[in-house]
Amino acid sequence: MSKSFGSVHAVSDVSFTVQPGVVTGFLGPNGAGKTTSLRMLLGLVRPTSGAATFGGVAYRDLPHPLATVGTALEASSFAPGRTARNHLAVYAAAAGIPRSRVGDVLALTGIADAADRRVGGFSLGMRQRLGLAFALMGDPEVLVLDEPINGLDPEGIRWIRGLLQSLAAEGRTVLVSSHLLSEVQQTVDQVVILSRGRVVHVGSLDDLGSAPRVVVDAPDRAGLRAALEAAGLGVADAEGGLSVAAAAAEVGAVALRAGVALSLLHAERAGLEDVFLQLVGSDEGVAA
Ligand SMILES: Nc1ncnc2c1ncn2[C@@H]1O[C@H](COP(=O)(O)OP(=O)(O)O)[C@@H](O)[C@H]1O
Ligand SMILES: [Mg+2]
Repeated sequence: MSKSFGSVHAVSDVSFTVQPGVVTGFLGPNGAGKTTSLRMLLGLVRPTSGAATFGGVAYRDLPHPLATVGTALEASSFAPGRTARNHLAVYAAAAGIPRSRVGDVLALTGIADAADRRVGGFSLGMRQRLGLAFALMGDPEVLVLDEPINGLDPEGIRWIRGLLQSLAAEGRTVLVSSHLLSEVQQTVDQVVILSRGRVVHVGSLDDLGSAPRVVVDAPDRAGLRAALEAAGLGVADAEGGLSVAAAAAEVGAVALRAGVALSLLHAERAGLEDVFLQLVGSDEGVAA
């Protein structure tokens, strides 16, 4: 799919497939083209070229769109004077969804206690939860969520992580965009990374990760360093120990052979963020 707005090439030849049963992260800095891609997927923006389908069917041709695809797009606006429950009830009536579903999704998204408060007083995190409640109303097989984690507090992030993973575990297809890798790193199984309107990586997070690296330490740090260097491993100073370009098992085996007792050994994931930033370029917001 491609989409240009005048001379701005917002999305250029973006093509990927999202599988059921896993959470797929759709990542890229602000302006990379995520929202435009998702809006094309949902038939809200007409592609300049190409098409997107759900199991081979365009969104507008789905026989039961609400039961097939649930969406929460960025900047969903809710009438501030109405309550969360009222918003969902009106939607249920219009969409032919049983009224009982309203209580279900309020509970699922953790806003049952706030259901009868006006949405105008909701925090960004609560509005995100309400957006998700809308997305879940039709009990859809596919969820398309644009930056759903934005604005959530740490407890909210932990909660949505569990929810998205359990929805995927039920066999649903979950596509979730984010401009921050760190925000979704522990939530997603697969990633599609976008930079300046183009896909720069599709695959698992592990594929993306750089070579394994661990932080290790020992009461005899000098002895540990000597043993690692003698084994031909790259060793650098790190906060609270030594950073080694090798897997934990290999480092442990080297220490054992050298008779060095370890006080610390853990895998370092920082490399992933570095790879991500290299892929997308560091100058955020440029997409032309
Ligand atoms: N309706 C529009 N008119 C003109 N330019 C747009 C429009 N929507 C998005 N763009 C531009 O397309 C590019 C991609 O935007 P967007 O899809 O919102 O990125 P993201 O969601 O990854 O932040 C940006 O340069 C943005 O300014
Ligand atoms: Mg966006």
